[in-house]
Amino acid sequence: MCGIIGYVGQRPALPILIEGLRRLEYRGYDSAGVALMERGKLQISKSAGRISVLEQMLDMQAKPKAGIGHTRWATHGAPTDVNAHPHTDASGRIAVVHNGQIENDRALRTYLERQGVEFRSDTDTEALAHLISRFYQGNLEQAVRQALHEISGAYAIAVVCSDEPDVIVAARNGGPLLIGVGKGEHLVASDPAAILSHTTQVVYMSDGEMARITPDHVHMTTLDAIPVTREIEEIEWGLEQIELDGYDHFMLKEIHEQPEALQDCLRGRIEARSGSIHLGGLVDCTRELTRARRFILTGCGTAWHAALVGEYLFEELIRTPTETEYASEFRYRNPVIDDGTVVIAVSQSGETADTLAALVEAKQRGALTLGVVNVVGSSIARETDSGVYLHVGPEIGVASTKAFTAQVAVLAMMACYLGRRKHLSPAAASQFITALEQIPKQIAEILERAGDAKVVAERYAGFENWLYLGRGYNYPVALEGALKLKEISYIHAEGLPAAEMKHGPIALIHEGMPVVVIATSGSQYDRITNNIAQVRARGGSIIAIATEGDRQIAKMAEHVLYVPDTPEPLQPLLTVIPLQLIAYHAAVLRGCNVDKPRNLAKSVTVE
Ligand code: M6R
Repeated sequence: MCGIIGYVGQRPALPILIEGLRRLEYRGYDSAGVALMERGKLQISKSAGRISVLEQMLDMQAKPKAGIGHTRWATHGAPTDVNAHPHTDASGRIAVVHNGQIENDRALRTYLERQGVEFRSDTDTEALAHLISRFYQGNLEQAVRQALHEISGAYAIAVVCSDEPDVIVAARNGGPLLIGVGKGEHLVASDPAAILSHTTQVVYMSDGEMARITPDHVHMTTLDAIPVTREIEEIEWGLEQIELDGYDHFMLKEIHEQPEALQDCLRGRIEARSGSIHLGGLVDCTRELTRARRFILTGCGTAWHAALVGEYLFEELIRTPTETEYASEFRYRNPVIDDGTVVIAVSQSGETADTLAALVEAKQRGALTLGVVNVVGSSIARETDSGVYLHVGPEIGVASTKAFTAQVAVLAMMACYLGRRKHLSPAAASQFITALEQIPKQIAEILERAGDAKVVAERYAGFENWLYLGRGYNYPVALEGALKLKEISYIHAEGLPAAEMKHGPIALIHEGMPVVVIATSGSQYDRITNNIAQVRARGGSIIAIATEGDRQIAKMAEHVLYVPDTPEPLQPLLTVIPLQLIAYHAAVLRGCNVDKPRNLAKSVTVE
């Protein structure tokens, strides 16, 4: 998705902007550009394609000490040079970078064209640049404010004007934006990663707020000019967390980070001996949560898969009816919500537009809302009544890995926390927590045998169709394994509850077709081995994910990838690891760009 970076201070701005843009690359983009303030005029450079293309156009020795930059992910208009941001007014005096979508863009364009404005691009952002220019009378902040009153839609923007060479005006309404605080300098960005090498001190902007940013001062107000005071906060991440640290790809790094990440996620929250769970974010609403008549878990993509595991966990441990809904469906389908309904939004980024909209819808209908979110201070984290952070550090790879396991771990803790307040005995909770405590170590054991997954990928990476089957808690894992393979290797893969196979998809199976079956020990074992037999009878090649020590399965499968034993509700935390590794290696073998898959963005902040 689009990214914003801005700098105003004492140092040459260009290297800072380019570094920031590079750190935003992981979010996905198809063009990039910068605007530099040079001696009372703006110098705009922008181009379709990678940041390296933009760099070739730039004089990296340029002296200007203020500027804005942008990575664009095309929505209005093709990814071309002319549609890349920044966009300027007709005089070239005002430049705007913008994340989000202006909804009344058509009407604005028609109005401006009638006033004689000639548009150069197909973007909605250009209308904003022209509009600000029409209101400009020597005060950029005031002109932006007036223009924003004419705009509907979601935006995060940074605006500069050549008449005010050390001022950036930023505004937010529905897209993340934060201000980095340095000594005699300030930065503005849509993602902390963009500024982390310069400062860890930040001010998070909220929707409906604007800021006038100069080297020494930040003046924050609402859109209606009411002054706003915000605390400076510390970004928790270290720079090493957003660098490759010797790995070939962020996805591989993040897969291998999972033991430590899960340890961070569980730290201080579980106590096996007493069978107790401490989740600070739930303390104030525990009473309401234990009285809830229904939970709705919502999210998109991988987060939706984690939510589905959560549904199984909640119903088993809390014994309260729970449903999982695609946020994109929930937001539009007139859902039945009463005051006994709790809606839980699951999201790594905390910025996914559909999940955010589902949440707003749920709130408007009176639900208590919780977030299971990774990015601190993100829109979903702010919008929810309460919630539990994942605490796994930044996830850079587009394919979500450590966020999935942490989302499941948090939902498991929530289920156990609330279960204890209802039907779960202290002994059962203690057993559950003891098993949960083992998970980081058990993931590390699986990762020691990561080479086994590579062998599978080498054998089957040439097949264009794969099936993933699971039952019970491992059904969402089958969906997740298929999604991982699809999104980074471009192999078509389908995940299914194994029993559904006989209702249609079994027709797909042909000689040698790779079928990944999660066949770990537990209540579903006999049924899933039966499904394996059905696949084998039709010539499919079985790649089984099984529990260590299961020798029987080796007779039924071409390949077995073993995971340590754990109770069924926690198995997704282990069974997903080999599937992440298979997808990763298949993508590498097929020469795909693992961290930046085609057509995909890290966080989907548009509909
Ligand atoms: O940031 P979120 O968790 O809300 O993102 C939701 C999905 O867009 C995300 O999980 C997506 O499916 C990933 N690319 C999957 O790997």
